[in-house]
Amino acid sequence: MRWSQLLGAAVLAALFGFGSANTQAEEPGSAARAVLVTGASSGIGRRTTELLAERGFYVYAGARKQEDLDALDAIDNVAAVRLDVTVQDEIDAAVERIRAEGRGLFGVVNNAGVAVLAPLIELDETDLDFQFDVNVYGPFRISKAFAPLLMESRGRIVNISSISGVLSGELYGAYSMSKHAVEAYTDSLARELGHFDVKVIGVEPGNYSTDIGRNVLQRLEERGYDPSKSIFADNMERMIAGMADYNEPTENSPPPDDVAEAVFDALSSEAPKEHYMVVPVQRQADYTIRKALEEVVRFNEGHRYTLSREQLIAMLDELLAESRR
Ligand SMILES: NC(=O)c1ccc[n+]([C@@H]2O[C@H](COP(=O)([O-])OP(=O)(O)OC[C@H]3O[C@@H](n4cnc5c(N)ncnc54)[C@H](OP(=O)(O)O)[C@@H]3O)[C@@H](O)[C@H]2O)c1
Repeated sequence: MRWSQLLGAAVLAALFGFGSANTQAEEPGSAARAVLVTGASSGIGRRTTELLAERGFYVYAGARKQEDLDALDAIDNVAAVRLDVTVQDEIDAAVERIRAEGRGLFGVVNNAGVAVLAPLIELDETDLDFQFDVNVYGPFRISKAFAPLLMESRGRIVNISSISGVLSGELYGAYSMSKHAVEAYTDSLARELGHFDVKVIGVEPGNYSTDIGRNVLQRLEERGYDPSKSIFADNMERMIAGMADYNEPTENSPPPDDVAEAVFDALSSEAPKEHYMVVPVQRQADYTIRKALEEVVRFNEGHRYTLSREQLIAMLDELLAESRR
């Protein structure tokens, strides 16, 4: 018998409020559930931190700069934690602190992320390392370090992936590769930690106005990048101009409130979905669903085990029925 079973569901439920279908994080008469959000200084991480704290979670909010830590500490129900997801010592210190504070930990939101913009044949290996160090090794390090606390609480991990975990656009190759890796990581980890009643959930946002574009541009500038030297000069210049507008809310890229709502649902619903695609407009959903269907067609064609149209539709109906159960 596993040690988590030995602890007993009743004790865990009393400690962490686990197992209730509430819409508030806090059960009457019980302590607030504690969660950690990485990359809480801006964008999706900041909005998620605010929403979870408003709805009764106690949020450990990871950030790197002192001004961001101070701003997060000023929010009710939020405790800022100095946390760079590429620095193992800071991760270890965060685990130690959270364990010492005695609230336990019900959830981790692996949100910290960066984007690298470059044609793959011109991409420096150091830039690819940077992309994977934050977006892929970051969640890997964080989830590994906090797994014992999450297994004690039979808690949840929410990985902020992207529709780029399905799509593979030009000039976004490094970013798409990292988010495809996050998708695979999420699904494998979900199977493994499912044995310990820990749920692992992927959230796939479309475009939302955050600081991500500004951060891409800042890094290109720091590295003295000159798009006119690229063999994709026109496309790179267009992309860079688009990035400059990324933090301005538009219909196609609104503030990330819906993403924060999806994370809240993933952490509070009794039966959360395994994946939450959250997009602001139909077109972004269409691209993504179409790409997934293209893969179905691609895998089905040109070999001796091809399924008929009827068999494919029967399989689709079966999956739709399962997902609506
Ligand atoms: N915005 C979108 O349209 C969109 C769409 C799909 C997925 N996403 C994903 O959403 C997540 C959040 O991005 P965002 O759009 O909200 O961008 P953002 O505003 O730039 O936020 C990124 C956050 O990650 C933090 N971060 C970067 N490197 C870090 C590191 N080494 N250690 C710890 N934190 C680090 C940043 O902290 P600093 O302030 O210290 O740099 C910031 O808090 C990312 O995983 C991104 O890929 C975004």
